[in-house]
Amino acid sequence: MLNKLAVDFSVTSGRPDKQRTDFVVVGVYESGKLSVAACALNREGDGALAEVVKRGGIDGKLGSTLLLPYVPKLPCSRVLLVGLGKEKDFHGAEYRKVCQAAGTALAGLKPTEVVVYLPELYVRDRSLGWKVEQAVIAFSEALYRFEPFKSRRESTGPVRIALGVPGRGELKDGETGLERGRAIAAGLVLTRDLANLPGNICTPSYLADVAQQLAEGTESQADILDETQIAELKMGAFLAVAQGSVQPPRLIVLEHRGAADPDEAPVVLVGKGVTFDAGGISLKPAADMDAMKYDMAGAAALFGVFRAVQALALPLNLVVVVPACENLPSGQALRPGDIVTTMSGQTIEVLNTDAEGRLLLCDALTYAQQRFKPAVLIDVATLTGACVVALGNVASGLFCNKQALVRELIAAGEDSGDRVWPMPLFDEYQKQLDSPFADLANIGGKAAGSITAACFLSRFAGETDWAHLDIAGTASRKEGATGRPVRMLLQYLQQRAERRSGPARATAPAEDSAALLWESAGR
Ligand code: BES
Ligand code: ZN
Ligand code: ZN
Repeated sequence: MLNKLAVDFSVTSGRPDKQRTDFVVVGVYESGKLSVAACALNREGDGALAEVVKRGGIDGKLGSTLLLPYVPKLPCSRVLLVGLGKEKDFHGAEYRKVCQAAGTALAGLKPTEVVVYLPELYVRDRSLGWKVEQAVIAFSEALYRFEPFKSRRESTGPVRIALGVPGRGELKDGETGLERGRAIAAGLVLTRDLANLPGNICTPSYLADVAQQLAEGTESQADILDETQIAELKMGAFLAVAQGSVQPPRLIVLEHRGAADPDEAPVVLVGKGVTFDAGGISLKPAADMDAMKYDMAGAAALFGVFRAVQALALPLNLVVVVPACENLPSGQALRPGDIVTTMSGQTIEVLNTDAEGRLLLCDALTYAQQRFKPAVLIDVATLTGACVVALGNVASGLFCNKQALVRELIAAGEDSGDRVWPMPLFDEYQKQLDSPFADLANIGGKAAGSITAACFLSRFAGETDWAHLDIAGTASRKEGATGRPVRMLLQYLQQRAERRSGPARATAPAEDSAALLWESAGR
């Protein structure tokens, strides 16, 4: 069975020196200054914390940690000290880092009950609600485990984490942050679970079932198009990729109509959903081919975003479009040199069947525009190895035809700690896609591979405000899926919703995504 949300979060205004719990987490600055909660523990504990700091047990550098397995007179079993760095440099990004470091340290200690006194720290321009929200996300992320296929699980059951707020008067703001944090964390868990699933489980039909589950019992709508309907739409490029596999393709559409005007032009997000990319006839090398199960990470991210948008009840119209298929070699597979006709009417000479993502996406982009007339169109894809070379695993590649949108997305990346960085779409690159036989080729040669891939997509974005996010380097690591760029996209959508209709509030708590996923597997 699949992963449960690993943490049960709450807020408390209880005093740190009165907590009868497994762990209490408090901070210390690089100067040796203890946080307010740490001072309280120190007072009650015969000055033990100050003594440990004085003797060099922890230097207070940002993100350093020290476990005190015993502090005299305190009712808690252990204290985890976390370094806060320089007090004057302690901003939002530093706060997030401290929460991540504490979460990572705790993850190795198998806790059952923890009280965290980090939201009490002063962070300029950040509300208590924000600090609670970010703590929830960071601890949920750090304690995430993907163990559905392990006969012996490491995680023992849900961890209870209470987040300490300064006083009773702050509990309400804390609760609001808690709800928002839970919604986002649940989206991230869904994204990571889906992306981590192997290709034999997470097929195009599996993704379609998950989408259906997401919409069930809500006001959202799921629309699943099968192979015949995809053919009726004349999506020749998408179908050409899918034809090599016995797994039938699906075009998955999810709609959330949250704006006051249900007819307001939506934000449409398009996600690459290649559930396994062997390269097709242009077969990939065997080494690390298993990582191509992550080639649906764009789709997974959008399912997570959608789940969070539902839970947050964001007042905007959002559509998610996912073309899902496999890219395998077979007797029926697409050949290098084949020419296909896209839904837009443009023809493509397929010179490399491993450049398949753009073939799915070009038809999905045309569909998104024709059916939904989007205000903004953003596609998210593990599109090119070249983007990994350019930006590594630090920033996702951002390609965009509107300067204002570039700024908004970069800002959303900075604010959420899930960064994107702009790459050029200069006209001069377009000629690399010239083909002697068709309107364009699907590859543009060795140079500037991530840019020519984006240029290819730009031919199908037309005049719509459009951005393409290449997440090939950021969506996964050796240890598994990262959940990127869910936080960036949610930050962007929240900002956009707020700009248009004032701040949003979370409604029902986000459900556990595990049941949802597992039910789909059984179908
Ligand atoms: N799914 C891959 C891109 C990829 C590579 C994602 C590494 C994550 C890590 C994509 O379909 C692909 O194979 N692209 C080719 C394009 C080339 C043939 C022009 C690539 O990047 O090698
Ligand atoms: Zn490929
Ligand atoms: Zn691919």
